[in-house]
Formats: sequence, C-alpha cells, structure tokens
Amino acid sequence: MSWNLCGIELRTPLVTASGPLGWGEEFFEIFSTRGLGLFIPKTVTYNPKIGNPPPRIEETIGGVINSIGLENEGIYKWLKLEPLYRSLDIPVMASIAGSTLDEISKLGEIINKLDYIVGIELNLSCPNVKGENWSNNPSSIFEVTYTLRKVYNKPIFVKLAPKDTPMLYIKPAIDGGADGLTLFNTFPAYKTISGGLSGPAIRPIYMRLFREVKDKVDVPIMASGGVFSASDVLEYLNLGANAVQIGTAFFKDPDIAERIYEELESFLEVKNRDRK
Ligand SMILES: Cc1cc2nc3c(=O)[nH]c(=O)nc-3n(C[C@H](O)[C@H](O)[C@H](O)COP(=O)(O)O)c2cc1C
Repeated sequence: MSWNLCGIELRTPLVTASGPLGWGEEFFEIFSTRGLGLFIPKTVTYNPKIGNPPPRIEETIGGVINSIGLENEGIYKWLKLEPLYRSLDIPVMASIAGSTLDEISKLGEIINKLDYIVGIELNLSCPNVKGENWSNNPSSIFEVTYTLRKVYNKPIFVKLAPKDTPMLYIKPAIDGGADGLTLFNTFPAYKTISGGLSGPAIRPIYMRLFREVKDKVDVPIMASGGVFSASDVLEYLNLGANAVQIGTAFFKDPDIAERIYEELESFLEVKNRDRK
C-alpha cells in the first residue's frame, strides 16, 4: 500500500487525528509509529493557551465529550520539538488555529520555514473555543484560508466542522486555496459538560456528510470521526477518503494504528489472492 496526499507520500493511509496524542513527546517515548502514515500533533496557536476549566472530558455511550479548549504552550515551545519530529520515520503535518488573521499569518510564516513539516492542517472548527470557530461562517472560512495561502507554500488541509449542507463551508475553503480537506472535527454535544463529541457514535453521521461531498470536490480528503477498526477505515476508503484519521481510539488502545494496519494488510492480501 502507498498513499499520496498532494505529493506527501504516506506508507499507510492511517493518520493521527490532532489532539489525543498531544504534541507526541510522551506518546513516542513509549509507542512507535508502526501502522501510521502521517503524524498530526495537537493544534498549536501563536500564544500559549490555558484552555477551559476542568472537567474537560466526559465519557458517554459510544464516545467522549471533550472541552479542552485548545490548551497548548504556543508556537515557540512547539518549535522545540524539531528533534523529535525529525527523528520520526513518518512525515509530520502541523495543525494550527488562531483567533485573528494576523495570528494565522504569523504561524504560516514561521512554519513555512520548517523543512521537517510537510504541510498544515488549518483547524477552523474547534467547537470548544469561543470566538474561534471560523467554521460557522463561509466568508470567514474563505478569508482565513486565503490568509494562510498567501504565506504558506506547502499543502494546506482545512479541517471543518460537521454541518448540514457541507458544501456551503467546503467551497470557500477550496476557493481560499486549500489543497485538501479534513472532514470533520467533533460534533457539538452536552451531557454534564458542553463540548465536542468524538468516537463511534458520530461515525454514521459523518459518513452521511462525507458521501454528500465526495463527488462534488476533487481535492484529497482525510476522513476523521469514530474510527476504531479496520472495517471503519475501509468504509471511509470506500466512500473515497484519501486517508483516515484516528483520534479517540488511541485512548482505548495506544497501539490501535498498528493493529488496524495489520488487519488492513491481511484484508488486502486475501483480496489479491482471490483476484488471482
Ligand atoms: C481530547 C481531544 C482533543 C482534541 N483536540 C483537537 C485539536 O487540538 N485540534 C483538532 O483539530 N482536533 C482536535 N480533536 C478532534 C480530533 O482530531 C478528531 O477530529 C475528532 O475527535 C473525531 O475523530 P475521533 O472520533 O477519531 O476521535 C480532539 C479530540 C479529542 C477527543
């Protein structure tokens, strides 16, 4: 198997969804990149962010509600991870967010100089941060994507929120210069905390939305939402996904990517054998 996202070669179609593995420093101390094709660290912002007050994670049937609020130590701390990202045997794509166009532009300029980063996932869709959910407004989606496009030369994947009439939000991202899309971020939810729902519960909803857009766009799409098994991956690939992200499933099993990849390989072997 080999996979390609706008010229970025992936040895497998499995990608870490931004967030659950943080910036990777603790994860890769213990676990390996086996099974993975691309690493996307947790979203980085220009300034450090303390995030939302606890409690910030709540389990529910078939998923998890989180309201982390993009907690992170800011771009200058993130830059210190260069040795780790260079040491990995898979490509690394940055995930960025900002509350102003100026922040997006500054992040784009800084990351544009980093030869060890293969592209940017532009997170326009965190449901847990007031005032930063650009995804609600098609003209903002255009504006912020275009702002990044002007300063960033490598592939940009715009990560959007799950919405009815998804093309309304996707078209401005592509018009603004996105090379690809990540569909979708978490689903707004409430139990005892208000946040974004992830995990198996959201997958059928996301697959419906995904099916609606796939024939209408010709840029690569990374699917995100509820992947826990090889058959979940195959369902997204059958719908036309170019790569598939895994997020919440890492909480259940840190070796999930390796396990899914082994299953995918044996599935493809059987298929090839049947063809002969
Ligand atoms: C604890 C947690 C933190 C997350 N943080 C981010 C983030 O920083 N940036 C982002 O784009 N998405 C973030 N997400 C969303 C995931 O990347 C993913 O799009 C979403 O969880 C759906 O996929 P899943 O069901 O496989 O988890 C986060 C999700 C979780 C559960």
